[in-house]
Amino acid sequence: MTAAPKWGGLEVGFDVPALPGMREAEIQTPCLILDLDALEANLRRMAEFAARSGLRLRPHGKMHKSVDIARLQIEIGGAVGLCCQKVSEAEVFVRGGISDVLITNEVRSPVMIDRLARLPKLGAKVAVCVDDPTNVPELAAAVRRHGTSLGCFIEIDCGAGRCGLSDPEAALALARAIASAPGLTFAGVQAYQGRLQHLPTFPEREAAFAASLAITRAAVDRIEAGGLPVPLVTGAGTGSYPLEAASGLYGELQCGSYAFMDADYGRVRGLDGGRLDAEWRNALFLLTSVLSRPAPGRAICDAGLKAQSADSGLPVVFGREGVRYTRWTDEHGELADPDGRLAVGEHLRLVPGHCDPTCNLHDWYVGLRGGRVETIWPVSARGKLY
Ligand SMILES: Cc1ncc(COP(=O)(O)O)c(C=O)c1O
Repeated sequence: MTAAPKWGGLEVGFDVPALPGMREAEIQTPCLILDLDALEANLRRMAEFAARSGLRLRPHGKMHKSVDIARLQIEIGGAVGLCCQKVSEAEVFVRGGISDVLITNEVRSPVMIDRLARLPKLGAKVAVCVDDPTNVPELAAAVRRHGTSLGCFIEIDCGAGRCGLSDPEAALALARAIASAPGLTFAGVQAYQGRLQHLPTFPEREAAFAASLAITRAAVDRIEAGGLPVPLVTGAGTGSYPLEAASGLYGELQCGSYAFMDADYGRVRGLDGGRLDAEWRNALFLLTSVLSRPAPGRAICDAGLKAQSADSGLPVVFGREGVRYTRWTDEHGELADPDGRLAVGEHLRLVPGHCDPTCNLHDWYVGLRGGRVETIWPVSARGKLY
């Protein structure tokens, strides 16, 4: 089964799970694989939606953490640039050639503020979120030191209960502080409601979004009434983007998971009542193989907790009727195989519960087309958490 001679004596200096041209059954497991046709279809579909809606698309790179996928999003996926969550992540993307990044988060550590202010020197346009007036002089001092400039978005807490502010007066005061700080530009408002993304039905998300939109609109109206135009409202995720698009307020979408899909989003219902994994193809899989058949109806595979995140529940076995992933331990997964068809060594595709934290556990994406390995991409910003 395994083409051992291809690996034998190969001196690669680093460990890779596959080589170009290999068949899926020859890939070392557990490992992340990408169905490149599905990935490209998802990217094109979101690009068409954004274009049709007259919106900018700035996908979230914290999901895939891959320079190669970010480039593809720009080349064929209609992206104007990329979102990321951390300065160290942004550094990887900028060094990888992504020239327009928005850090959708606050940066408060002096060291990371300094690194943030250096980033534009690498030729990139960089923006960051702010939710506290005391952050403004910190950022302004850093850009002065480096002779650079930064865009600043005011983050609105529109219901997620994370960072951000929701008082319209506070938003106006912050906008004024940014606008009058040399080297900083008031770029607009970020309003991302993370809590509503996975509500099971579209009407539930619609109701939650109405409350969220009212908070964002009040802040935007107050800033504009105070004499400062709000150039852009940015936000939205895979569970909510049709709502932001129809709001008349948002100008930019930040969706991330649409590119890969995962089991948790797959169960969520879309605008037409159908499952989201019917709208967005599963492009990401955790490839695993059967290690043991300890009893009739049971098999053990090699993908356990170390290969996938557990926050959104068990993975779903893809394309194998009747086979279910039932339990995990560190290095193993248990499979129910009532028909007893699984054989030791057989490869199976799992759809991970949650794509973002699963991708951060791996070094490589193995890209497949037509049953063969076409490409191997590093998870370039893996572990960039600061
Ligand atoms: C600020 C922000 N924008 C956009 C997204 C993308 O959301 P999704 O992966 O649900 O499309 C996230 C994800 O957590 C986020 O934190």
